[in-house]
This record gives sequence, C-alpha cells and structure tokens, in this order.
Amino acid sequence: MKSFLIGLVCHLTFAWASAYLPEGAMDQRSAFSVARTSSMEGGPKMVVTFDKVYVNIGHDFDPKTGIFRCRIPGAYYFSFTVGKFPHKDLSVMLMKNKNEVQVIIYDENYGEERKVQSQSAMLQLDFGDTVWLRLHGDPKYAIYSNTGHYTTFNGYLIYPDTYPYQKPSHQDTFHSYGKEEGHNRAFSDHMQSDQTIHRAEEEEEGGEQDEDDIRSAFSVARSQSIVGVNMDIVRHLPITFDTEFVNIGEDFNVSSGMFTCRIPGTYYFSFNIGKLPHKIMSVKLMKNHLEVQAMIYNDGDGKKALQSQSLMLPLQRGDTVWLFSHQHDGYGAYSNHGKYITFTGFLVYPELPKHRPQWIKKPDKDI
Ligand SMILES: *[C@@H]1O[C@H](CO)[C@@H](O)[C@H](O)[C@H]1NC(C)=O
Repeated sequence: MKSFLIGLVCHLTFAWASAYLPEGAMDQRSAFSVARTSSMEGGPKMVVTFDKVYVNIGHDFDPKTGIFRCRIPGAYYFSFTVGKFPHKDLSVMLMKNKNEVQVIIYDENYGEERKVQSQSAMLQLDFGDTVWLRLHGDPKYAIYSNTGHYTTFNGYLIYPDTYPYQKPSHQDTFHSYGKEEGHNRAFSDHMQSDQTIHRAEEEEEGGEQDEDDIRSAFSVARSQSIVGVNMDIVRHLPITFDTEFVNIGEDFNVSSGMFTCRIPGTYYFSFNIGKLPHKIMSVKLMKNHLEVQAMIYNDGDGKKALQSQSLMLPLQRGDTVWLFSHQHDGYGAYSNHGKYITFTGFLVYPELPKHRPQWIKKPDKDI
C-alpha cells in the first residue's frame, strides 16, 4: 500500500507539473525543425546542412554544420524527409557520431521524377553525441530541394534521462514546487475518499510495476528483407526486428515483434518500409488480434524505395500493436544493413486518473 501511495503522489504530481512547469523544466527542452532551400549533389562534404530554421529550442542543432549535438541525455525522436533529384539516385543516412549508420532513405529509380521519401527513428543519446544526415558521396546521388522545402529534418527530446519524476521522495516532490502545505492537506483529504481507496485496491492487483515511471518508448529496425511465400496455413505473424535503438519500459519484444501496452494512454506510432523490387509492398499496423489500424501499400514496378505511415492510438493495458507484412508469394519488403524497415512508438499522454482531485485543476486556488 505504501509503495502505491508514493506512486500516486508522483503520478498526480506529474500531471500537475506538466500543466505548470516547475522551475528548471525549461532546461529539459530540446527540439529542432529545419529545412533546406536548395539541392545538393553527392561530394566530399557529405553532411546535409540547412538554411531555414523553424524551431531550435536549446540551440542544440547547428544548421550551418548540419550537426545536432546532444546537451540533455535522453531518448530523442528524429524524422527526416528528402527530395529525390531528377536522374539521380537518393541515399541519405541518419548518422550517430562520426560513422554509426542508424537508418537510411534510399531510392534508386534513376528516372526523371521528383518525389520525397521519409524515415524516422528514436535514438538514445548521451551528452555530446551527434546526429546528422549523410548524403552519399558519389555525384550520382543528390537530394532535391527548393524554396518549397522538399528536404526537412526534425528532432526532439521525448524522455530526458534525468526524468524528474523517476524516484523523488514523497517530501521532495512537494518541496520542489513550493506549495507544500496546501498540497499536503489537499492530498490527505483526497486520500480519505472511498474512491481513492477503491482505486488503490484495483491498482495493487495490477502488480508491482514501477508506477512512478510513466514512460514507454521503443524504436526498432530490421536489416533483412521479408519475402512472402505461399503456405498451406496462413499464419499472421508480426514482422520481427534485429536492432533495438530504444526500449524504455521493455514493452516491445524484439523477437516476437510485439508491443504490449503497460501504461494506458495515447501512443504515437510510425513505421517505414523498403520496397522490394518487383514485389508488392503491403504492410499493416495491427492492434490486438487482427485489427488493421493503418497500412502502407505500393504495387509499382519500381526498384528500391521507402514508404512511411504514422498514427496515434488510444491503448488499454494489455493491448498489442505490431506490423504485418502480407505473407503470400509476390509480396515483400526490402531492407539491408542500412536499415530501411523501422518501427517506432511512444507514449504521448498517459491516461489520467478518472476522478482528478480538485488541486490538480486549480493549483493556486483555495490554498
Ligand atoms: C518475447 O517473444 C518470444 C517469442 O514469442 C518469447 O519466447 C519470449 O518469452 C518473449 N519475451 C518476453 C520477455 O515476453
């Protein structure tokens, strides 16, 4: 019971703190969103630079050098979209530090067309780690952009490592926001209510999870292609993964390919799939048994390319989310060590307790 009470305090405090940022919270922000107004051809200088800055909170991204440098250790979500230059191939990798390839955008349709391709991943970064986009150095590769901004790059901190609500003591939680007395009173009043006791009992049945750590995030990649084959019995197996960038809370099982919701709430999911030449790409985002939520499809005859999709889903504890690639002959998805196939998901907002105590809504009144 005691551990639950502390958990509840932290949980409620978090909800309150999100709406009324405590001092110091400003230092926990890092985000950038940039665009490029011109094309770039492959050459010795491979770092993609940017000249249009929309957002640069914390100034951790240097648009002139094209390098993001981690100031706040934690889990960051990165997404990027690059334009394909007519009669050129496209190969842009998301890099960590000097030479660690994370994920790739690739398109070898050497045709005239212009189009964009997108990719995303979440990365766990330490202080001083750098992240950047690398254009292949051969001049047969190029990215296209103009003042319409085909080429963009975004990154932002999802969960800092120094998560302020991880393990604060009961007392510290109140002290740090300077409203100690009123909240303690409100809290003990609140704890008298039958509802709360009832919920406490329910919660205890749910097991001894780390209730004060309301974080959940995964980002995984697959470095091998998937090729559909006709089988006598159709088994709807999830796509599995061999690379784990982030798995905060261990809610994603890499070997089964399944995400299982531990913290009820609203989750963001994104996935990117490579096109296998001469195969149809059909990959679905599934919930629970066979509930299709969103899909990627490409039945073009083209060569390698990427397709992307993203969605937010409300999830209950125990819900599963996974990717399904159509398993029959003629279907498939491409990847290699550059990692075309990626799958990312994270908790955006945990579900709030059903009966929110008064002091969360109006922290400054009645005190
Ligand atoms: C992950 O999935 C595999 C394969 O289904 C299973 O054997 C294993 O027990 C699962 N791991 C966890 C921690 O649930």
